[in-house]
Amino acid sequence: MSSIDIELVSVSKSFGAVSVVKDISLQIPQGEFVSILGPSGCGKTTTLNMIAGFNQPSVGDIRIRGRSQGRIPPERRNIGLVFQNYALFPHMTVADNVGFGLKMKGTARSEIETSVASALRSVHLDDYGARYPRELSGGQQQRVALARAIAPRPSVLLLDEPLSNLDLKLREAMRLELKELQQQLGMTFVYVTHDQEEAMAMSDRIVVMWQGVIAQTGGPASIYRHPASSFVADFIGKSNILTIEGTSEQETTLDLHLSGSAISLRAKRPPNRQQARFCCIRPEDIAVLNNTGDAGGCSVNRLSGTVRRVINLGPSLELAVEIDPHVVLTVLTRSSLSASLPVMGDVVALSIDPDDIQVLPE
Ligand SMILES: Nc1ncnc2c1ncn2[C@@H]1O[C@H](COP(=O)(O)OP(=O)(O)O)[C@@H](O)[C@H]1O
Ligand SMILES: [Mg+2]
Repeated sequence: MSSIDIELVSVSKSFGAVSVVKDISLQIPQGEFVSILGPSGCGKTTTLNMIAGFNQPSVGDIRIRGRSQGRIPPERRNIGLVFQNYALFPHMTVADNVGFGLKMKGTARSEIETSVASALRSVHLDDYGARYPRELSGGQQQRVALARAIAPRPSVLLLDEPLSNLDLKLREAMRLELKELQQQLGMTFVYVTHDQEEAMAMSDRIVVMWQGVIAQTGGPASIYRHPASSFVADFIGKSNILTIEGTSEQETTLDLHLSGSAISLRAKRPPNRQQARFCCIRPEDIAVLNNTGDAGGCSVNRLSGTVRRVINLGPSLELAVEIDPHVVLTVLTRSSLSASLPVMGDVVALSIDPDDIQVLPE
């Protein structure tokens, strides 16, 4: 078992009467890429700032490598920081920016030079040391900020929405780079973002935050496939969340009676006898059956509906299919050159495998 780098023990934070982080406990092992993911205002930055030491928990304890950080100031926590705005010193060269932290620590000049060169190499800016920040693109400036943070070789890097100021293409490229860098350095990364795709693409583990609490923790695939609540199901990826009015238990399945509708869906029975208040169906798990009758798909959960909207996303089509006035399903289907594609007003047959219907308690 790897050792624990960072531990939050029942941490709460209030500003005056407003409680912002509520009883969070979390262990982050050495070398893990963990993302704290949640909507704006849910308490991500506040949590990161407590790990960094910029503010103190109102209740609870932050431990780094087993040691309580109560009285330890930020500069002695051996943590690197990268923010959304790069905060580079405009009057210093790239090399001086990257070497700044080491210089402050009184590191010998030859050692600073070696560390700066190595950090710049890690972010693919080998030849940029003599430039000034204004001579770089936004993406390059963020790489300099990254190099500056890793140059002193901290054991942990905290990143707060570092890619938010970059355009989409660059953001996607940087995701891969960041992940590679993290693996190459073997450094613990705590990455704060509101962008679920970003978190899914990079993380070993995702901590989903909502209104100051942890809504769910798990690997990207597990969170996507087995959301713990309708909030997580809705926040991570697209999903159809339907309200359940009642259920009837079968031997291995559970029939879900949808609220305000005559429709029932058959789902695999959840292992624990949890309450069934909602169900979640991912758009890509709903099959559109072809109209020649030889259909395929699943023999239960066959539905028929009218296409009310078609959005062409390139590789796939997103349909809104009205099953009845209260149930409109979002369906994702592969676009193809050969088959005729559904158009507005078409009546289509759908099927859903019971295994792909997640029953949710809240
Ligand atoms: N210093 C502060 N004083 C008062 N309220 C704050 C302070 N810092 C953050 N908050 C409030 O705490 C909540 C969470 O903020 P934050 O942690 O920045 O959220 P996130 O990073 O998830 O967007 C927000 O409602 C914010 O207004
Ligand atoms: Mg924030």
